[in-house]
Amino acid sequence: MKPRPANVPEKAGEEGAVPRHVAIIMDGNGRWAKQRHLPRLEGHRRGVEAARRITRAARVLGIEALTLYAFSSENWRRPEEEVGDLMGLLRLFIRNDLDEMVRENVRLRVIGDYSRFSADIVALVDDALARTAGNDGPILAIALNYGARAELANAARTLAQQVRDGEIAIESIDEQTIEQHLDTHDLPPLDLLIRTSGEHRLSNFLLWQSAYTELLFVDTLWPDFDEAALRGAVASFGRRQRRFGGL
Ligand code: IPE
Ligand code: IPE
Ligand code: MG
Repeated sequence: MKPRPANVPEKAGEEGAVPRHVAIIMDGNGRWAKQRHLPRLEGHRRGVEAARRITRAARVLGIEALTLYAFSSENWRRPEEEVGDLMGLLRLFIRNDLDEMVRENVRLRVIGDYSRFSADIVALVDDALARTAGNDGPILAIALNYGARAELANAARTLAQQVRDGEIAIESIDEQTIEQHLDTHDLPPLDLLIRTSGEHRLSNFLLWQSAYTELLFVDTLWPDFDEAALRGAVASFGRRQRRFGGL
């Protein structure tokens, strides 16, 4: 038997390949606004516009799944007013963009524990998930109150419970089992992770999933990230030689 780690494709990508699954840490809204002497909220508004633009562009490029980091489990540390602004924008985004997602056959997913959000947002998200559940097109996954360490802790807790209840044997727990209990269980392997704004860190995003992901850090602030930038990122991915530990 040939052991193969979970989430690692059998073969390296071909030259010029389009990544199946792209994740983006959409960073730099605040700095974008600051540079223009605008309130941070304006940066976040423009950030939502960028997210809309990139979601459409990803569909055109044939990317199967796009995961966007919208709110981390650490973003609660921000001033209450900013958290409120971000929640307001999330409401608007779902209200305004849901019809398009339904029409475009987009499968909406949420990763992270969005049950911590206010009841009206939880209801909006649940409704959006339900209305796109029958779609079979490209996946848009939004990370809401997402933290990779919490995601892994949840998986560990669920598996421990199953062992205690006699449903599974300890020996049966392997990388695949863990993967099946992550929020991303029904997404393709993560091929490319992009972070904008010049920061070079993962900020608790998709730690398990990014084990063999190609990383791309760009200086562009998120509101300025456009279709050409996404095409550039995909082209950069296509030029890379992935080895997955082999030769
Ligand atoms: C990213 O932009 C948006 C969220 C984290 C929600 P930031 O708000 O982090 O922008 P900077 O990093 O302060 O410029
Ligand atoms: C990461 O950006 C989270 C999102 C983009 C939603 P942050 O701006 O919160 O990350 P840090 O604090 O700079 O690491
Ligand atoms: Mg930031």
